[in-house]
Amino acid sequence: MAKLTLNDEDIEIPNGENIVDFIEEAGVPIGCSNGVCGTCEVEVLEGMDNLSPINQEEEDLGMEGNKRLGCQCVIKGGDVKMTY
Ligand code: FES
Repeated sequence: MAKLTLNDEDIEIPNGENIVDFIEEAGVPIGCSNGVCGTCEVEVLEGMDNLSPINQEEEDLGMEGNKRLGCQCVIKGGDVKMTY
């Protein structure tokens, strides 16, 4: 199990899972789930290496630095901290 801390709420997510359903339940606005609309933008505070690498959809929407599209992130394991 990986641990995602989102705005101080801890969420357990199986290793290798896309985080979209979990962050939606925690309040992140999810629109398309496909990396097109950009509503799911999050800021990664810790543990970027524990997420899948940034993908083309994210680059196309200008994600850089600590910014990611939550719907495009797979958590590999370990701990990740993010805010939205
Ligand atoms: S929900 Fe649309 S880009 Fe993530």
